[in-house]
Amino acid sequence: MLDKISSLINEVKEINVNTHEELEIFRIKYLSKKGLISELFDEFRNVPVALKKEVGQKLNLLKENTSDKYNSLKEKLTENDDNNEYADLSRPSFPYPSGSRHPISIVRNEIIDIFKRIGFVVSEGPEIENDDHVFTKLNFAPEHPARDMQDTFYISKLSPEDSSPEDILLRTHTSSVQVRVMQNQKPPIRTISPGRVFRNEAISARAHCIFHQVEGLYIDTNVSFADLKQTLLFFAREMFGQQTEIRLRPSYFPFTEPSAEMDVSCRICGGKGCNVCKYTGWLEILGCGMVHPNVLEASNIDSKKYTGFAFGMGIERLAMLKYRINDLRLYFENDIRFLDQFKSAL
Ligand code: PHE
Repeated sequence: MLDKISSLINEVKEINVNTHEELEIFRIKYLSKKGLISELFDEFRNVPVALKKEVGQKLNLLKENTSDKYNSLKEKLTENDDNNEYADLSRPSFPYPSGSRHPISIVRNEIIDIFKRIGFVVSEGPEIENDDHVFTKLNFAPEHPARDMQDTFYISKLSPEDSSPEDILLRTHTSSVQVRVMQNQKPPIRTISPGRVFRNEAISARAHCIFHQVEGLYIDTNVSFADLKQTLLFFAREMFGQQTEIRLRPSYFPFTEPSAEMDVSCRICGGKGCNVCKYTGWLEILGCGMVHPNVLEASNIDSKKYTGFAFGMGIERLAMLKYRINDLRLYFENDIRFLDQFKSAL
């Protein structure tokens, strides 16, 4: 029996395999329950006591060597598999479905990219804010309707009737980031602030309780309305094409004076009139104005020395115009059939 074991030890030493099938044959022959080594262990019972120690040791050695051999052969084969995977570059790729960016992200990145080119830096603020940053420091009168529970989601409100600067709420616009930036930086300030905003609105095709805005703020000495106009014209043409025209209509915001709403010429009909622009030839895309002196002073910026402009736009609205999306709810439902369409967009 000792000779048999010795010859098996030598035999195993010489074995080589080239495929997983050959390796499996090797395993079955030597290491399986009905394999040669098992058989020898069965025979071991009949070995005379005097020889048991020597035979036992040799048998264990055979078993160890064989399983070591098996493991090293297996490792070698797997290594080769990996190499092969990279070696055959003509092999078709796995059919992994690739994801796509959300249209809101695509448009947000595009807006950021345009303003970065003219020196604006990105800043962000919290979505959970206090009344002070969202309303009070932006010159909202205490009884302004935006402070109503009907319009704003409150997290904690000191009194249901009155508003207090300490009330905690979900920001209703990204203008709150203007306040934070003015409190923390000295002019010149040139920043854009993208982010999520919340309003207490019933969800429909045209309104949602969550949406996204990008805020812009520029404060320096001698900033004029002409600077605002030129900046927005540059933006509109980069975003919608060089033939785009803009139009500013007087408007009202508590934090800007004078205030305006900006329209761009309808890119779908080229200004001739169609159902997208409701036959006006114009599409409203943002609110803007010169920062109100009260707003500068509330954040300790000298309104005699500095002036500035601000603007705010809704990302959903821009994406709607860009991609002709006609229902706001589509942005939030994450239906793959909707999202898949933006694969080629970036
Ligand atoms: N915050 C305003 C809104 O949500 C937009 C705006 C921003 C207007 C900055 C003027 C200046 O409608």
